[in-house]
Amino acid sequence: MRYIVANWKMNPPSFLEAVSLVTTLLDSLNKNFPRSVVIFCPPLPFLSLFDQVQGDRLPKPYFLGAQNCAADSAGPFTGEVSASQLKTICQYVIAGHSERRAYFGETDQLVNQKLKLVLINNLTPIMCFGETLVYRDLSNGMLSQSGKDLIKKQLEAGLENVSKVEQSKILFAYEPIWAIGTGTIAHTEQVEEVYDLARSIIDHPTLLYGGSVTENTISEISKTSSDGVLVGGASLAGPNFLSLINTLS
Ligand code: PGA
Repeated sequence: MRYIVANWKMNPPSFLEAVSLVTTLLDSLNKNFPRSVVIFCPPLPFLSLFDQVQGDRLPKPYFLGAQNCAADSAGPFTGEVSASQLKTICQYVIAGHSERRAYFGETDQLVNQKLKLVLINNLTPIMCFGETLVYRDLSNGMLSQSGKDLIKKQLEAGLENVSKVEQSKILFAYEPIWAIGTGTIAHTEQVEEVYDLARSIIDHPTLLYGGSVTENTISEISKTSSDGVLVGGASLAGPNFLSLINTLS
């Protein structure tokens, strides 16, 4: 376990709350530098807050990431932010989160375009993939054949024309959609089944688990062969998130 990605989604709602959260987090992270790689992915307007609160204290106990980027490198795309613009303020970019796939029409092809732009700009992609509950065999909780096919398709189409060298730079986040925000985590066997599938497609992938990771579930998730975790809701509760990091460090 090494990577801890904090996906703040569209939170917190105000600048003042973001200042307070960043201050709480950095106070502790600066005192207690963990061995883990902590990557904060706040909404874009709050990205620069981290460096402002950190000031010139070194070393910086965190990296920064964006939750999305445009699928084009430049042009008349109102509201979009390109990977080359992001590289001035962060080091990582999430691509293919299930919420973007479900609500913003992000297809495997779009994820592929984004991954390539992120890589060309020397940023590290965090590529999300995962299935809904209908892709699981309800008798034993394992992937059904269509579930295996779906995971395979997400990875293969998402990585089309991405070289093995580039693939080795990507963090792959397996996020079962049925576990996100539900309080239910996938069991070790369920996670390992998906990881085995990913390893049959990608050489030595770096694999993260996401979906209801909290300070309470982290010890269970630590039993899997995950290289890290992607944390949503629990990354917004300063002290709880810090205790989650400490459990891993
Ligand atoms: P959760 O979200 O930790 O709140 O389940 C994870 C995610 O959507 O990335």
